[in-house]
Amino acid sequence: MQEHEQQRHGPGGFNRRDFLKGSSAAVAATAIVTAEQEALAQKKGSAPVQGPGKVDVTLTVNGKQHKLSVEPRTTLLDALRDQLNLTGCKDDFDTTSCSGSDTIIIDGKAVYASTRLAIEVQGQQIQTVESLRNGNNIDEVLSGFVKHDAMQCGFCTPGFVMATRAFLNQKPKATLKEIQDGLGGNICRCGTYKGITACALEIVKGGA
Ligand code: FES
Repeated sequence: MQEHEQQRHGPGGFNRRDFLKGSSAAVAATAIVTAEQEALAQKKGSAPVQGPGKVDVTLTVNGKQHKLSVEPRTTLLDALRDQLNLTGCKDDFDTTSCSGSDTIIIDGKAVYASTRLAIEVQGQQIQTVESLRNGNNIDEVLSGFVKHDAMQCGFCTPGFVMATRAFLNQKPKATLKEIQDGLGGNICRCGTYKGITACALEIVKGGA
């Protein structure tokens, strides 16, 4: 290749005009993909757009239906605490260090209430720690925590109780190892783990 040709094309044989042509094609291709994605999103999004103002939702909590008015961005945790005054689930969520103190049960599974929107859990069965006591009727996990001195601080205990309840619902014949693994989503390390696992083991063995 002649010297002027090398300057025009550069050492790789790729000149500025080629580059601009290639860039234009890439931009055009991106525009097509974006338009397709938008069309697809519109097609899929046949559900009406919600918000940004408040919308009516119905939540089934502890066996009762509650009609609320919330912004679509409202978390289930905030709806439970601020609107239904169910403050057993705690708000320690700063987006990086959820310790599990906001654990509730949705359709039988332990869930962090701060990770769900109120608007998306309509029609599901939501259970909070308040449901574990009904007058003199006390869930064996609650009484087991007392018996085995498994209480952590007031902030952390309700979440651990709910995690234990959900775990035992799903694994009523769990081993010690399974209990330890299954409760790993609650991460306070202040102690009382021995009491918590002793409580769960006793329930597994039917002795609570
Ligand atoms: S911070 Fe609550 S028991 Fe550790």
